Amino acid sequence: MSMKIIGKVFVKPKSEKKIKNFYLWIYRDEISKVSFSREMEGWVDIVNDRGEFICKGFYSPKSSNPVKVFSYDNDFDINTEVKKRVLFSFENRKKMIGNGVLDKNNFRVVYSESDFLPGLIIDKYGDFFGIQIRNRLFENLKDVVVDTLLTLLEAKNIYERSYGDYREKDEKLEPRNIPIKGSIPSLIRIREEDIQFVFDPLRGQKTGFFLDQFINRKIVAAMCHKGMKVLDVFSYVGGFGIYCAKKGADVISIEKNEYYSDLIKENIKSNGVKDRVRVVTGDAFEKIKEIDEKFDIVVLDPPTFVKSLSESRKRLPMLIDLIKHSLALLKPEGKLIIFTCSYNLLKEHFIASIRIAAMELGIRIRVDGELMQSPDHPWVIQMPETLYLKGLIVSKLPSF
Ligand SMILES: C[S@@+](CC[C@H](N)C(=O)[O-])C[C@H]1O[C@@H](n2cnc3c(N)ncnc32)[C@H](O)[C@@H]1O
Repeated sequence: MSMKIIGKVFVKPKSEKKIKNFYLWIYRDEISKVSFSREMEGWVDIVNDRGEFICKGFYSPKSSNPVKVFSYDNDFDINTEVKKRVLFSFENRKKMIGNGVLDKNNFRVVYSESDFLPGLIIDKYGDFFGIQIRNRLFENLKDVVVDTLLTLLEAKNIYERSYGDYREKDEKLEPRNIPIKGSIPSLIRIREEDIQFVFDPLRGQKTGFFLDQFINRKIVAAMCHKGMKVLDVFSYVGGFGIYCAKKGADVISIEKNEYYSDLIKENIKSNGVKDRVRVVTGDAFEKIKEIDEKFDIVVLDPPTFVKSLSESRKRLPMLIDLIKHSLALLKPEGKLIIFTCSYNLLKEHFIASIRIAAMELGIRIRVDGELMQSPDHPWVIQMPETLYLKGLIVSKLPSF
């Protein structure tokens, strides 16, 4: 891709420090002026109010954060740079595999801003690579990404699952869910640890599977043994529930989407846990109220609950209600494993929701552990948005 510079973006003094400190998005209100027509799209030099060079990035006029910073070097070859960064990231994951913290076959190779490739996701599932492009920067760099996968990572099968609010509403890009290279079946079959899963690469969530929960699936499964009862709410294709059933637990999985709930059933069969998992298809907020048994573990992993800070006030009562019902279903000393993948749900609001739910039930609880996204989704302190998955292990305690 050619790197013709369309002009300069002048940032306001208040944002200069943040950008120099590797925050890779520049919002509309941080730009004082541009040296080109505002409707143009392309590579730009980002400069301070004195016109001094800070970094290079890509400008897309329709977005709420029109500039994605790409490099602090003034002179680089974009193709070489993309390849170098993908490879750097791949090597990093291989080290993590060596350290035993990732599954060796299935992992996120590139996690967007955290791997200095803003807007690009690359996931590896055995011999399949799923890519997701979230912004116009990588919309323009897609050929380089595919070429990198083919030549440097020796990919045989590549598909694209590019969709989502940011891509469609903010960057005004159409969703694109297509096979790119090789043979992409309608269902991909993977083995994670000793568990088999199928998922739909082009109609599933993310690029098909929740790799970010890998480490947490292992942690929750480690708490299980034969005879325990587990409720897996918002189950998707069965992840947590099937891990627990493999350890001997009896599980109820709740999932609203009929297609995904059919896939849970497939996954139950292929793991030989048909007798231990019951699938309930329907709205968890309703279904949870109909359950009249008690559980040792309840896993709550809802979809993005709060999409903006302003939405918090409206949505929190629903979350509190859900937590209340979940805590009420726990046996004495049972555990609630609760997640939020909403970056905009502040940690203090998340914790307060649990506190209010416990207060309304009049029960004593304690946090026995904090969970987060798996290490193949590393996060950058200078870009807090890269840490989106928050989780807690909450124990119900006796009332001493
Ligand atoms: C974050 S994903 C869960 C991922 C899963 N725990 C895993 O590790 O693979 C959320 C799931 O909740 C489902 N879902 C969304 N709204 C729901 C609702 N109201 N009731 C039940 N399931 C719902 C979605 O279809 C999606 O599969």
